[in-house]
Amino acid sequence: MKSEKVKLGLIGLGTVGTGVVKVLKDYDNIEIKKIAVKNINKKRDIENLAPSILTTDPFEIVNDPEIDIVVEVIGGTDPAFELLKTAINNKKHIVTANKELLAKKGQELFNLANEKNVTILYEAAIAGGIPIIMPIKTTLAGNKIHKIEAILNGTTNYILTKMEKDNVSYEEVLKEAQKLGYAETDPTGDVEGFDSAYKIATLATIALNQRVDINKIYKEGITKISANDMQFAKELGYKIKLIALAKLTDDNKADVRVHPMLVPQKDCLASINGVTNSVVLEGFPVGRVMFAGPGAGMFPTASSVLGDILAIVSGIGSDNLLPFMKCNHTKNAQQISIEQTTNRYYISITANNNPGVIGTIGKICGNHNINLASVLQKGIDKENTARIIIITEESIEENINNAIDELKNNSSIVKINNLIRVME
Ligand SMILES: NC(=O)c1ccc[n+]([C@@H]2O[C@H](COP(=O)([O-])OP(=O)(O)OC[C@H]3O[C@@H](n4cnc5c(N)ncnc54)[C@H](OP(=O)(O)O)[C@@H]3O)[C@@H](O)[C@H]2O)c1
Repeated sequence: MKSEKVKLGLIGLGTVGTGVVKVLKDYDNIEIKKIAVKNINKKRDIENLAPSILTTDPFEIVNDPEIDIVVEVIGGTDPAFELLKTAINNKKHIVTANKELLAKKGQELFNLANEKNVTILYEAAIAGGIPIIMPIKTTLAGNKIHKIEAILNGTTNYILTKMEKDNVSYEEVLKEAQKLGYAETDPTGDVEGFDSAYKIATLATIALNQRVDINKIYKEGITKISANDMQFAKELGYKIKLIALAKLTDDNKADVRVHPMLVPQKDCLASINGVTNSVVLEGFPVGRVMFAGPGAGMFPTASSVLGDILAIVSGIGSDNLLPFMKCNHTKNAQQISIEQTTNRYYISITANNNPGVIGTIGKICGNHNINLASVLQKGIDKENTARIIIITEESIEENINNAIDELKNNSSIVKINNLIRVME
């Protein structure tokens, strides 16, 4: 182990970067040599920050022969990918919080890192402050994990929690979340499920031990969830959550997806409210394990980045640094499509108030091998239509799609309002 200070280059000084600088000030053995930013004149919330430490050229950091560890917290793939490739080629260890980069370019970066014998750590990229990568790679390493159910996006969980508690619409809560800083001005990345998909891509890859392709992950956001859906779900004993799911099928294929789900109120994920994140893993021999905590924010995220930095510092100079954290996947996952998945379903239907309409719905479902588990009819409105909610037993999604098509073409059915998958 080196006796002099370990030198670190920080790329990005926004929410996470600022947190990292603040928590690193207590470590005498680590020196931040340079920090790259976009706007050098921006006021920074850091005491005694020497202006000379800042640069607008992040390549200065990745090419600096004195720097041992590059911490990348700018986000996105461009220029982050080129920067990290250069850093790895220059034999620097990497700490990153960048889920998008890992999901899209992880394979290339990890292969290069193995070739150059450097380490990439990324605890902060998945579920912010919750320790999940290191536990899977170390303490849980002896397990065959076959299922992950997770809430990986604080913004959407905040919105859904508020919709349920206050019985208000998605649009109303989104506006409030934007005012409070819980949602971005352009919320697409969160509300359409991109952020959760990036995270589950990497999480599933390491937990299922097969490379999961982000482009094959089915993704559906929360924008179509109505206040009515929330209330009907509640009456039926469920909450609605945006779930990132990854599981192995019986024939060892990977079923990886992100979409809203009705979660039984007794399930531990139903009690994850507000911006909190949670990951539930199922494996053998451990059984079911739940992790929960802050999925974002300056200090929780800095906690994970700091843990990664300290892990690298503890072994720096060794020829075989943190071998258990290396990427060792050799197999690409065979990912099934959403049509091939099996789920229970919540279907919200507006139907004409005709005698026998529930029988018609049951018959159409039966035509496609779908059994109904429960039916809820809400009162008749002034157009003489009724809202009918059905929960199905387990069915193949392809069959459900066919049943929905037949329902849409039936004269008794006015509208299919929503279709939401239901957690077992
Ligand atoms: N925020 C969280 O709670 C959180 C949680 C987990 C993971 N993450 C991940 O952490 C990363 C950073 O997130 P953040 O919230 O800290 O972002 P942020 O607040 O927007 O900060 C981004 C920083 O990167 C700098 N930057 C952007 N492009 C640059 C370039 N080309 N060269 C040099 N500097 C550049 C910006 O400089 P200026 O300051 O000059 O504009 C800013 O300091 C992302 O990958 C994000 O997904 C964030």
